[in-house]
Amino acid sequence: MELSEAIATRQSVNRVKQEPVDRALIEQILESAIHAPNHKITEPWRFHVFSGKGRGELARARAELARIQSEEEGEDEEMAAGRISRERKKAFRAPVVIAVISLAGRDEVETLENYAACCAAVQNMQLTAHSLSLASIWRTGPAAYHGYMQKFFDLSDGDMIVAYLYVGYPDMGERPRRRAPVAEKTVWHEG
Ligand SMILES: Cc1cc2nc3c(=O)[nH]c(=O)nc-3n(C[C@H](O)[C@H](O)[C@H](O)COP(=O)(O)O)c2cc1C
Repeated sequence: MELSEAIATRQSVNRVKQEPVDRALIEQILESAIHAPNHKITEPWRFHVFSGKGRGELARARAELARIQSEEEGEDEEMAAGRISRERKKAFRAPVVIAVISLAGRDEVETLENYAACCAAVQNMQLTAHSLSLASIWRTGPAAYHGYMQKFFDLSDGDMIVAYLYVGYPDMGERPRRRAPVAEKTVWHEG
């Protein structure tokens, strides 16, 4: 697939089949991530791949996070049980879930730029997945930003969970893309 075609046709796909994905394909996706630009060559990315039964580790963490949040919000037992069950299931929405972590830099700017580099890495991953006929979706939410998940991944201050990339074979059709024309977003400064 031509790069321009991959960029234009990639879409977030939230429904994928449970059919397993070969580890070699996941390795190709990971390999593409590390070619992303990164200032001062900090190579700030770290990856955790959850697949097959390994997703259970993520499921347990998500369930515990839901329990904590539910307690924080003072939910009753029934509400909490529903929330915990829904959150646990989220780890199994795709055969592979890749958590992308960005490491803190030596100062605030480097931390910010490390995060930016990891975002570029995620885009590489999504484009590579797409070129391999795999679907993906970048997800965040409380499972990315809550302190409990930071502990789960043993993160230090300033480290960030940039994405949970859900990967699998698509189980839904394409949607029309909604984007305003680039001309509306651009100011040209020409000589
Ligand atoms: C930083 C970031 C976080 C995102 N988090 C979520 C998420 O939690 N849930 C979700 O459904 N999509 C999430 N997305 C995917 C966007 O919803 C998606 O990219 C957007 O709808 C545009 O669709 P497209 O990717 O098909 O072009 C996220 C995207 C980015 C860049």
